[in-house]
Amino acid sequence: MRWLIAGARGMLGQDLVTRVLRDGHDLVAVDRDAIDITDPASVAQIVRDVDVVVNTAAFTAVDAAETKEDVAFTVNATGPEILARRCAAIGARFVHVSTDYVFGGEATSPYAENGLLDPKGAYGRTKAAGEWAVRCNTDDYLIVRTAWLYGAHGKCFPRTMRDLSEERETLRGVTDEVGQPTWAVDVADLIVRLIDEKAPTGVYHGTSSGQTSWHAFAREIMASIGKDPGIVEETTAASFNQPAPRPHYSVLGHDALERIGVTPIGNWKERWAVACETVLGRRQAPAAE
Ligand SMILES: NC(=O)c1ccc[n+]([C@@H]2O[C@H](COP(=O)([O-])OP(=O)(O)OC[C@H]3O[C@@H](n4cnc5c(N)ncnc54)[C@H](OP(=O)(O)O)[C@@H]3O)[C@@H](O)[C@H]2O)c1
Repeated sequence: MRWLIAGARGMLGQDLVTRVLRDGHDLVAVDRDAIDITDPASVAQIVRDVDVVVNTAAFTAVDAAETKEDVAFTVNATGPEILARRCAAIGARFVHVSTDYVFGGEATSPYAENGLLDPKGAYGRTKAAGEWAVRCNTDDYLIVRTAWLYGAHGKCFPRTMRDLSEERETLRGVTDEVGQPTWAVDVADLIVRLIDEKAPTGVYHGTSSGQTSWHAFAREIMASIGKDPGIVEETTAASFNQPAPRPHYSVLGHDALERIGVTPIGNWKERWAVACETVLGRRQAPAAE
């Protein structure tokens, strides 16, 4: 099978490249220097003779999107629209990666795959528009929503907390945001499994199981590097005064995966125990666990 990954140098893209190559597939791995997903001519030139196209490219700067919503919209909505149309034209399956930010973050039980979209900020609005653009332009798609992503490539919460713990005696962790810390390697593995299983067109949630707060996750990170978890003090999201609103509740349900017999990603704490050495740079990145 021949795959194309757009956004191949991003955090998820790099782990997906490793995973797809491990299975011996042909792969076209492209990032912004080789493809501009917002340009139909560029997409038509690069996306050809492939069976599966995965879009991990995105405008992911959540706070910057508040003041650059037009730029974010072009990448996060027009880009997937162009890719979806191209996939429909050449008969390729399209896997598009989306986010928990499409939801309002005010629920008290896990969001269902068909839950109503209610984004609170610019980034979420543009990603929600991207989902609809995909649905409108191809019949053969998988929208995979992930959240609280961490990985060995690029900036992520565990490495930031580890680095801060080397400079400061105490850290602060938010208690009023709850979600599912998710390893990019696990999302890559899920995408491959969905393609292997010929999953029906639809929306799937690619997050770890269980739930936690940033505060509890930070404590877990400290424990895994041999530091006292007690150095992480409790705070609330309001104390950070960030430009973009963050969902308070970002827990995604996995019923759609269970319905088609694809095992969801495991519990966040167990997966962090497997991931931590790789993510914190003390072990070679695996192709998948
Ligand atoms: N990170 C998270 O916590 C998180 C949470 C939920 C969902 N997601 C979703 O997961 C997916 C992957 O996220 P990530 O964190 O791996 O992203 P990332 O590290 O920011 O990588 C995105 C990649 O897309 C490239 N790109 C941007 N605009 C492009 C364009 N017009 N044409 C081609 N490539 C372009 C970027 O290149 P440049 O670096 O040159 O801009 C970058 O290499 C995204 O859809 C994101 O919305 C992420």
